[in-house]
Amino acid sequence: MTEIRTTLSNPLEVEADALVVAVYQDAERLDASARAVDEATGGLISGWLASGRMRGSLEETALLPAAGALRAPLLIVTGLGGHAEVDGQALRRAAARAARAARQAGALRLASTLYGAFLGDDLAAGAIVEGTLLGLDRFLTYKGRDQGEPRRPDPELFLLLAEPAREAAVRRAEVLARATLLARQLSNEPANQLPPRRMAERAQAVAAEAGLEFLALDEREMERLGMGALLGVNRGSHEPPRLLVLRYRCGRPDAPLLALVGKGIVFDSGGISLKPAAGMHEMKMDKSGAADVVAAMQAIAALRPAVDVIGVAPVTENMPGGGAQRPGDVVRAMNGTTIEVLNTDAEGRLVLADAVAYAAREGARWIVTVATLTGAVVTALGHEAAAVLGNDRRLIEAVIEAGQSAGERYWELPAWPEYRRLYRSEVADLANVAPRDAGAGTIVGGLFVGEFVGEAAWAHLDVAGTAWVEKPTALTESGATGFATRTLALLPERLAALL
Ligand code: BES
Ligand code: MN
Ligand code: ZN
Repeated sequence: MTEIRTTLSNPLEVEADALVVAVYQDAERLDASARAVDEATGGLISGWLASGRMRGSLEETALLPAAGALRAPLLIVTGLGGHAEVDGQALRRAAARAARAARQAGALRLASTLYGAFLGDDLAAGAIVEGTLLGLDRFLTYKGRDQGEPRRPDPELFLLLAEPAREAAVRRAEVLARATLLARQLSNEPANQLPPRRMAERAQAVAAEAGLEFLALDEREMERLGMGALLGVNRGSHEPPRLLVLRYRCGRPDAPLLALVGKGIVFDSGGISLKPAAGMHEMKMDKSGAADVVAAMQAIAALRPAVDVIGVAPVTENMPGGGAQRPGDVVRAMNGTTIEVLNTDAEGRLVLADAVAYAAREGARWIVTVATLTGAVVTALGHEAAAVLGNDRRLIEAVIEAGQSAGERYWELPAWPEYRRLYRSEVADLANVAPRDAGAGTIVGGLFVGEFVGEAAWAHLDVAGTAWVEKPTALTESGATGFATRTLALLPERLAALL
C-alpha cells in the first residue's frame, strides 16, 4: 500500500528514485520548482520542450534521466495543459500518470513538487495525493502469479511542501482516496466471494475500526418490519439478505440526520426476467452503491461533520432460483405501498424502496440514494457523468458542488410529476417498470425510489455508467471506480454549512 509522506525539503535535495515536476502548454511553461530543477540540470526540461517532443498538454509525460544534477536519478515531467484549463481533476490525472510511470520505471520512492499550486496549495496537495492513490490502485486480491510482465510494486509518495500547515489537506485527501479504494475493493469482489453475509462482516469491520455504530438486519427482522420488496428480490437466491446500517453521531443531540442509501445487489442476473449472457459477469458491480455508502461512512467518521449520518445498504443477490419472484407478483413494501413486479430485473428500485422507507422511519431530514440503477443512464450521459434528480433544489445543488470538489460529475435530469404516470399499475399502488417504449428510464427508476422518502428532502444518483470501467482510464486501472464515494463523504459538511 502506498504510503503518503510530506517533506519540507526542496526538489534539488530530496532523496528519491524519481522526482515529478509539471509543465504547462502556454506562457510560464515552468513553475518555480520546475525552473529550479531546470537550472540545476543545465536546462534539461526547457531543452526537452524546445526539442518539440513535448508540448505540455494534459495526457503527456516524459521520463528524463537526471543523473548527477539532482539527488533523484529520474525526472518525471508531466503535462498540465494550459493554465486556464487546470483544475483539481487535471492535477489528479497528472498525478496518476506520473505515479504509474514511476511504478513502471521501478521507482520505489517518488517525490513530487507541489505543482498546480496557483489553484491554492491545499487544493493542489489534496489533488496530487488523491490522484496518486487512485491511479496506482489495482485489484490484485485473486492474482497469484503474473503472466509475462512482472508485477511492479507501488512507490511511496513524498510530497514536497513549503509549509507544514498543508499537512492537514494531505491527510484529508488521503481519507477521501482511501475510502474510494475501499469502495472499489468491495465493488470488485466477485459474488461468490462476497455474498451478503460476508459483505455485512466487511462493513462491520469497517465500522468497528472507524468508531461507527453498526447493525445488520437479517431476514427475520426484515419480515418483522414488513420489507416485502427487499425480501421479494431475495427469494430466488440461496444466500440470505442483509440490511446494513452504519451510524455516525456528531455529538449534538439536536443535529439533523442525513441518510446515505446504496443499492447492494451482489449479483444481478435479472432474476426470472433473465439478462443476456454477454457481459453478465459485470453485474457483480451492481453492489457499487452499497460499497460507496460503506466507504463514505468510513471517511465521514474521520472527517467528523456537524450533522448525524446513517449509511443504509440493502444487500442481496438477484437470482432466478426456484423460489424466485415472478413477473406479475405483487409485494408490499415496509411503508405499506404495494408494488406489481412487472420485470424482476428492475430489482434495484425494489430493494431501495424498503431501505429508503427505513431511512425515512429513522427520521432522516435528507435522503441520498446511490445506485447502479438503469442502463438508460449510459444512453443519456455515457460514462462521463452520473445522473442526479430529486425533490429538493438545495440538496441537489449540494450534491453537484460536493461532486465538483471531488472530481465527480453529476448532470441533473428532470423529476416532473408527469413522469409518475409511467409506473402506474392496474393491480397495485405502483408498478416497478414503465410500459415498453415509454423512455425516460433513469427518471422513472429514480422517481419510483422517491415514492418512499416520505417528508425527507431527497436526491438520487444513478451511477450505472460511472461505477465501472472496462479499460484503464486516467484514475482507474481496471473495474470498479468507486464513483460517488468522495461526493457522499463531502456532502455532510456542505449540508452542515447550510444549517
Ligand atoms: N443493475 C441494472 C442496471 C445496470 C445496467 C447497471 C448496466 C450497470 C450497468 C438494473 O438492475 C437493471 O437491470 N435495470 C434495468 C431496468 C429495466 C428492466 C427497467 C435496465 O436498465 O435495463
Ligand atoms: Mn436488474
Ligand atoms: Zn441491478
